[in-house]
Amino acid sequence: MPSKRGNFRLGVRLKAILSYDIKMSAYTLLEQNALNFQLKPVSLREFLFLNETPCSLYALENGLYKILLKKRSFINSMILKDLINKGHAQVYIPHEDRVDLAIQQQEELRKLTRSLSIGNLLDNGKKQLNLLTSHMSFLYENPTNDQALSLQYQSARNLCHFLYQHPEIHEPLYREFLKQKHHYIFAQPLLASLFLVGILKMARLFSDKEVESLFITSYFKDIGMSAIPTVKYDQEELSTEDKQLLARHSKYSVQILTGRLPLSPQYLKIIENHHSFSLLTRELGLDSSTDKTLVKGFETMIISTTDIISAMIAERPYRPSTPVFEALELVKVLISDQFPHEFKLVVSYFRNFFRR
Ligand SMILES: [Fe+2]
Repeated sequence: MPSKRGNFRLGVRLKAILSYDIKMSAYTLLEQNALNFQLKPVSLREFLFLNETPCSLYALENGLYKILLKKRSFINSMILKDLINKGHAQVYIPHEDRVDLAIQQQEELRKLTRSLSIGNLLDNGKKQLNLLTSHMSFLYENPTNDQALSLQYQSARNLCHFLYQHPEIHEPLYREFLKQKHHYIFAQPLLASLFLVGILKMARLFSDKEVESLFITSYFKDIGMSAIPTVKYDQEELSTEDKQLLARHSKYSVQILTGRLPLSPQYLKIIENHHSFSLLTRELGLDSSTDKTLVKGFETMIISTTDIISAMIAERPYRPSTPVFEALELVKVLISDQFPHEFKLVVSYFRNFFRR
């Protein structure tokens, strides 16, 4: 039989779950107009793993804003799930409170980064991946914010060692992470880096420090996408100019990261060339294979390959996912002549990964 205290806690939670319906209140037309300028959309997933709302949350229904949760409201996964089921996967928050949300995420991220290997490893990994990805969206909005970049770097570094030590949780972690449906722009670097760490572990050719540098290289290689208008991300049809703009993200990444992350020049060079194996690069005539000064070594190839495969096997707003064996067929065309043994390693890794 539940104790008095248990009943009280349950009552508080139920009240919190139901309260956002009660809090829905109408604003005057003038207030609605003002809210148009004061609010910005964010994904409700940004509030995952927080215990209270650092800002008020609004919904847009039939063109009108309504308050969902007031600032400092209690939240948990049940409340968030319920809001998503009610169609509020995207919510609106005041522009000036965006930083408060990021600060709260940063605090959670810092705490978890320090205790990643304590307790349930899969739960910790899930939480870390989600917090990092949510925080990545803040970093994309503020790519010159040194504090946000440094926190991402420290957390990604710890995550790399954690993943390297625990390959047994990679597959369930991958499946759980996909369920969260983060925007692919923020999720893709982590997915590619998760596969990368697995392959590097299997290859047993690299020191801990080299694995870490390659992980960081893979994780931050697309940060230059932050310089590209978000509206371009989900477009199915892109003009040649748009494709060229997107293809330049590698160069923007190098500009954003140079002097701000402890990555030596050869890793920045990998970032600059991380699409040198892709079909788009060839289509745009930007293929650097004719550049004799560029050595496309194993490191560039493996970062590029895990990027291509993780992107192809995940859904995009403008296309379905591709089966992994089809992705491997494409990679075969791209790398097997130059890297026949390494291609076998990649096939063996993915076959093993998706066999479970
Ligand atoms: Fe990229």
